[in-house]
Amino acid sequence: MTENKIINLSELSTGYRLLLTDCVKIIKTIPDESIDLIVTDPPYQTTRRGKAGNSGGMLQKDIFNKGQVFTYNDIDCEKYAPEFYRILKDGSHCYVMTNHVNLLHMLNTFMDVGFHFIKSLIWDKGNKIMGQYYMSQFEYILFFRKGKGKKINHCGTSDILSVKNIKTKGIDGKNLHDTEKPIELMKILIANSSKENDIVIDPFMGIGSTGIACKQLHRRFIGIEIDRKYYHIAKERILNF
Ligand SMILES: C[S@@+](CC[C@H](N)C(=O)[O-])C[C@H]1O[C@@H](n2cnc3c(N)ncnc32)[C@H](O)[C@@H]1O
Repeated sequence: MTENKIINLSELSTGYRLLLTDCVKIIKTIPDESIDLIVTDPPYQTTRRGKAGNSGGMLQKDIFNKGQVFTYNDIDCEKYAPEFYRILKDGSHCYVMTNHVNLLHMLNTFMDVGFHFIKSLIWDKGNKIMGQYYMSQFEYILFFRKGKGKKINHCGTSDILSVKNIKTKGIDGKNLHDTEKPIELMKILIANSSKENDIVIDPFMGIGSTGIACKQLHRRFIGIEIDRKYYHIAKERILNF
């Protein structure tokens, strides 16, 4: 793994900086109150016993068979929430995606470190996944702010965001990433909570949807991903978009 020792914000004149490393470590090198927006989709358990179930988590079947669920899913939000709060500028927004299993812990943790919980948005994925307790069709997007209030840029946006859950396929026809988020969804959040040239960070970048959205909207972007395969896919996608 290429360990990048620090994040130097002055390098962001090029538009984006992508890092193959553990975000929990490297985020500590970001100066206080230097980031305009956090938009991220952290890894999380999809059932209370830590097994993936069938509700759309980052399941990798070979890992699942060995008794593990995800390659990198053993991260408690208590490890990153205080850093998220520290690096954000006063009056900035933070969007964190999660599911019902992690909702309570996530909310409590983020509010304990100082975030104000504005509301939850709903991502209506347009597809349904079978389950014992109603079929699953949405994900939570927890919408927080640090410090003073700031309106979103397009107040007419509904808090139910209906964006089709279409996954990018590799040449083998398989999903490049099982929890890829649509670029259009990320664009709604970014357009509403930042302006051109702002610095947006996604510490759990996956294959880079947030980065592509930033590039299209002319925001500067810091993306961090611990998995080498996903990091390289993200790099390629962001470069070529
Ligand atoms: C739910 S996925 C995000 C998918 C992303 N939204 C996309 O559209 O591709 C979470 C990602 O976080 C990565 N991850 C897990 N732990 C990490 C860590 N400590 N530092 C950086 N990335 C990590 C995982 O490898 C995974 O790709």
